[in-house]
Amino acid sequence: MSGYACRDCEDSGWLDTPDGNAVVACHCREQLLASRRSRSLSAVIPRRYRGASFDRPPISSMPSAQVDLVKSYVRQLDERLAEGRGLWFFGGVGTGKTTLAMLVSQAAIDARRGVAIYSLPRLLAEIRSTFEDDAEGGYVDLLDRLAEIDLLQIDDLGAEKTSAWVLEQLYSIVNARYEAQRSIIVTTNLERDELAVQIGERTVSRLEEMCELCPLFGEDKRRFEAVDMRDKDQPPAPDLRLA
Ligand SMILES: Nc1ncnc2c1ncn2[C@@H]1O[C@H](COP(=O)(O)OP(=O)(O)OP(=O)(O)O)[C@@H](O)[C@H]1O
Ligand SMILES: [Mg+2]
Repeated sequence: MSGYACRDCEDSGWLDTPDGNAVVACHCREQLLASRRSRSLSAVIPRRYRGASFDRPPISSMPSAQVDLVKSYVRQLDERLAEGRGLWFFGGVGTGKTTLAMLVSQAAIDARRGVAIYSLPRLLAEIRSTFEDDAEGGYVDLLDRLAEIDLLQIDDLGAEKTSAWVLEQLYSIVNARYEAQRSIIVTTNLERDELAVQIGERTVSRLEEMCELCPLFGEDKRRFEAVDMRDKDQPPAPDLRLA
């Protein structure tokens, strides 16, 4: 193992010409620049979702049609990102939406693409705070970076009601990505029309065109585990009262 993502240029982005008198851009340079640009955005897979794999639970026990859809997205990652195609995970609480979305982001990070991962409340809070203490164009810069990154994952879309101003910023990011054909992955508990009430019809309409719908059904898997435990043949709890 060389430790470099690109062994040709050792992650410098440049290659020497055969005569050694000049340098030319390495084949990885575009991706290298994209991944550098994304560094100041949040691109952290939360600990719970790290190391997820198609071969292991919980993903191996999720409905196969939905898993296949995600598998084919990951397999064709470069094409999908080039076309600006995204995924829209919709379903009840605890059905695996974030798990699958994180798997896609992880695959894009592994492929050294620029990825930003936010829950909607956090994204909006970040936009608000950079706007409030904007000294050196931090706010405009943030919106530009969010618009340009290869893949933007927005989790919990519609989770909070927010101000018209903030929703306008969200619209401008989604619209910029829509126009430039850049991919977005979203997760939401809300039906399409409920979501439109929360974040605006124009934003939802664009997301609908950009994304393929991946519906997830079933029980809340967090809750299911708790019920499972109760059902097991447990010995009665010891009586801790003093005799
Ligand atoms: N099909 C499944 N089988 C077993 N465990 C699952 C399954 N789907 C999800 N889980 C587990 O349930 C928990 C919830 O998954 P996840 O966070 O992806 O749900 P979600 O749909 O995003 O929920 P929310 O709407 O609350 O954000 C996780 O611990 C995950 O590993
Ligand atoms: Mg979730």
